[in-house]
Amino acid sequence: MCGIVGYVGERQAAGILIEGLEKLEYRGYDSAGIAVFENRRVRVEKAKGRLSNLKEKLKNDGVPTGCVGIGHTRWATHGEPSDVNSHPHSYGRVTLVHNGIIENYLSLKTSLEGMGNRFASETDTEVIAHLIDYYYKDDPADAIVRAVGRMEGSYALGVLFSDHPDRLYAVRKDSPLIVGVGEGENFIASDIPAILSHTRRYYLIDRQELAVLSGKEVRLYDFGGNDITDRKELMTADWDVEAAEKGGYAHFMLKEIYEQPGTLARAILPHFACGAEGILKEELPDTAGIRRLVIVACGSAMNAGLLGKCAIERLARVPVDVCIASEFRYADPILTEGDAVIVISQSGETADSLAALRLAKSKGIPVYAIVNVVGSSIAREADNTIYIWAGPEIAVATTKAFTSQVAVLYTLALRLAIDRKTISSERAEAIMEAMKGLPGKVETMLSEEKIALYQHLASLNRSKHDFFIIGRGQDYAVGCEGAMKIKEVSYLHCEAYAAGELKHGTISLITEGVPCLAIATDRALVEKTISNIKEVKARGAQVLYLCTEGMAKGQDFYDYAIELPETEEMLMPIVAAVPIQTYAYYTAVYRGCDVDKPRNLAKSVTVE
Ligand code: BG6
Repeated sequence: MCGIVGYVGERQAAGILIEGLEKLEYRGYDSAGIAVFENRRVRVEKAKGRLSNLKEKLKNDGVPTGCVGIGHTRWATHGEPSDVNSHPHSYGRVTLVHNGIIENYLSLKTSLEGMGNRFASETDTEVIAHLIDYYYKDDPADAIVRAVGRMEGSYALGVLFSDHPDRLYAVRKDSPLIVGVGEGENFIASDIPAILSHTRRYYLIDRQELAVLSGKEVRLYDFGGNDITDRKELMTADWDVEAAEKGGYAHFMLKEIYEQPGTLARAILPHFACGAEGILKEELPDTAGIRRLVIVACGSAMNAGLLGKCAIERLARVPVDVCIASEFRYADPILTEGDAVIVISQSGETADSLAALRLAKSKGIPVYAIVNVVGSSIAREADNTIYIWAGPEIAVATTKAFTSQVAVLYTLALRLAIDRKTISSERAEAIMEAMKGLPGKVETMLSEEKIALYQHLASLNRSKHDFFIIGRGQDYAVGCEGAMKIKEVSYLHCEAYAAGELKHGTISLITEGVPCLAIATDRALVEKTISNIKEVKARGAQVLYLCTEGMAKGQDFYDYAIELPETEEMLMPIVAAVPIQTYAYYTAVYRGCDVDKPRNLAKSVTVE
C-alpha cells in the first residue's frame, strides 16, 4: 500500500505535498518523493527511507517552488526500497505517482523495451510512465485512458504532463483515490487525512473515470471522454484527522483485523494463479532436497510457525521443528544436509530472527523467509523470500500479518505435499479451493452479530486476571497466539495449554468463574478436548467454546459458544484466530489500554 497526494492551486505545492505525505506515512514508509512544476519544468525530488530523509534532502537541495505537484510515500512492492525505485517516476513528458500493483508489468515492459525504451528502475510504476508517454500525442486524458486499458492489476495514479504545467490528472482502479475540492485549489489523495486540513469536500473517482484538476476547477470524465462532473456527488468528510488515518476505525488494530479478508486474498490467490503445479514455483524452485524444516521466529511469528508445523507435517509428512529465534541463535543448533530453515518475520528486521538467519547461512543451510516488509534485511539476506503482501501493519500487536503468515505456511504445506505426492491431486485441488474461500470465511467472523458476542464476552471478563486457552494439536497452536494477543493488548494474564496437559499441572488454578476458552476444530480430537472441557467445567470454569459450526449443538458443557464456518480442517485455525484477536481487542478497549501501542512493546525489536 502506498500513499499519493497532489495539489494544484495558488499556494506553494511542496509544503502541502509534504504535509499530505506525513498524514499518509502509515500507508508505507520505504521511500518518499515529490514532483513540482518549477519554472514550467517538472522537478523531481525523492529519497529512500522515511519522509524525514526527503525533508533533509530538500533542506540541502532547496525546496522546489511552484503551485502544481504530486507526492508519494512508498510501501515497496516491485523493486526494493531505493532512491531509483522511489516515486515519482518520469519518462518523456510524463511524471507520475502510483499506488497499486500492475500484474502484467513485465510483459508491458518487454514490449516497450522492444521499441527501444530503457528503464531506470525495477518498478511496475515506471512502466506506466513509459506506457502513457507512448500513447501521448497531444491529449493527456486520451493517453492515460489508452495506457490503463492495457494494464492489469490495481492502480491509483497522479499524473503530470510537462507541456500542461497547470494541470493534474488522476485515475484509479481498485486502489483508493479521492479528489479534494478547495477554494481556488484542488487536491488528490489516497486517503482523506492528507487533505482534511485544507478541505472537507471531495469526489470519489470510480473505475473508468478520469479527473482533470486545475486551480480553478475539477472536471471528471468517463473513459469515453464525456464530462460526468455534474453527475458525481460532492462528498463532505466528517472525520477528525486522527480518526481519518485509521480509516474511521478507533484503532489501527481494529482496522487491521477487518483488513484480513483482503490481506488473506493477497497472501493466497497469487500463488494459485497457475494452478497446483505453479504453487510457490518462483520462490521455491526445488524442494526435493528438503528432509527437515526448522522454523525460526519470535512472538506471533513463532506462533504462526507452530501452525505451519501442524499443516506441513500433516499434509506433506516433512518433519518440522519450531524454534524461538533468541534460543536458536545461542543453542548451537544441529543442522545437517537436507535441513532448510524458514525465518518468519513481519518486519523483516527483528534482531534475533536476523541473527538466526545468519547463523543458519553460516552453516551452509538454505534459508527461506516469510516476510511482510519488502526489501527488509531478512528478505534481502534469505536465499528465497515469500512475501505475505499484508501492507503496512501499524498496530504493535500483529493480526493481519499473523494470519497471512499462516496462510503462506499452508500454501507451503500444500506445495510440499504435491511435490512429495503425499496427497492426491483431487485433495490438492480441494485444499486450494478451500484456501481461496478463506477470506469469505473470515468475513463471516466479522459480522455485526459475531462482533456483538465478542464484545459481550470481553466486557464480561475484562477484570478477570486469569484466563486459560486450551486445545489440542492445531487448536493448541492457535491458542498460543490467542493467549499472546490477550496478554499483549489487555495486560491480563492468559495461558495457552495443551488440553490434555492441563490435568498434569495448572488445573489447580481453575476456580469458580475463571474463563477458559476451549478451541475445537480438529474433529479427530474433539471428543478428547470435550473431556478436558468437562474437567475445567467441573471446577467452576466459565467455558467459552470456540468450535466448528455444529459441534456445539446439543452440548451442555459450555457457557458460551462461538461457532466457526466449516472449511478444510487444516485451515480452521486462521478462521479461529479472528474472534480471539477481536475478543482481545475489545478487552483492551474496555480496560482503557493503549491498544495500538501496548506498554513495553515495540512493533519490531531490532536489538537483542
Ligand atoms: C514483537 C511484536 O516485537 O516482535 C510482535 O510485538 C511480533 O507482534 C514479534 O510478532 C516478531 O516481530 P517480526 O517483525 O519479526 O514478526
